[in-house]
Amino acid sequence: MEPIIRTVDLCRDFPSGREIVHALKKVNISIKPGALTILRGRSGSGKTTLINLLGALDYPTSGDIYLMDQKISDLSERKRDEIRRTGMGFVFQSVALIGLMSAYENVEFALRIAGYDKKKRKERAEECLDFVGLANRMTHRPHELSGGEQQRVAIARAIAHNPKVLFADEPTAELDTQMGLQVLKVFRDLVTKEKLTVVMTTHDPNMMELADHVYTLEDGEIVEII
Ligand SMILES: Nc1ncnc2c1ncn2[C@@H]1O[C@H](COP(=O)(O)OP(=O)(O)OP(=O)(O)O)[C@@H](O)[C@H]1O
Ligand SMILES: [Mg+2]
Repeated sequence: MEPIIRTVDLCRDFPSGREIVHALKKVNISIKPGALTILRGRSGSGKTTLINLLGALDYPTSGDIYLMDQKISDLSERKRDEIRRTGMGFVFQSVALIGLMSAYENVEFALRIAGYDKKKRKERAEECLDFVGLANRMTHRPHELSGGEQQRVAIARAIAHNPKVLFADEPTAELDTQMGLQVLKVFRDLVTKEKLTVVMTTHDPNMMELADHVYTLEDGEIVEII
């Protein structure tokens, strides 16, 4: 099957004082559609750098990134913004929900920004919260939810506009193993039932068996593909 995202000799350097950090060194990776891919590796191995590039949040120093057959690594910021808004969803380590809004309102608000009309917003927000197992928590505000529940609201919000690819950088890092596995189970269901493509980073070995593909990074290079 054709990859949904692939990279060609992807490099990302960061200036650091008088030196240059080679955070990624000629990384070639293909992300399969409708699969759960995990990027793993020690702290500093380049996971965040790589996922930010795949999600068009950053530009490579050299090398290219293709989304389907479109080269996205040299598009203008405006075009990339459009691609992110329509085709991609993002979940981060610390959940950035709006504290004064309920779970439902957080998801509904994202749909408002994406331009959905009122009726669709209600339908879709309820559908997504139901999907992540929070149908009975919709009116709760973030501080009335557990860390794992908050992260699931963040997932509902990230998938509400029907992205093709969901990126998650260490989504379970602040959760205990049990809550982390619950979050991963939601990703698994999104892939299996909704045919979503999910790319996530983690260094938690407990998560690996739920993945379809695992890329291991070491010092900016892919050293193992499972
Ligand atoms: N903006 C930046 N400026 C300078 N160096 C950076 C920058 N971002 C990342 N780096 C360096 O690039 C390397 C890879 O960093 P990255 O954040 O991708 O690692 P990581 O695998 O996500 O680590 P962690 O598990 O701690 O999140 C590290 O050596 C880091 O110090
Ligand atoms: Mg990181």
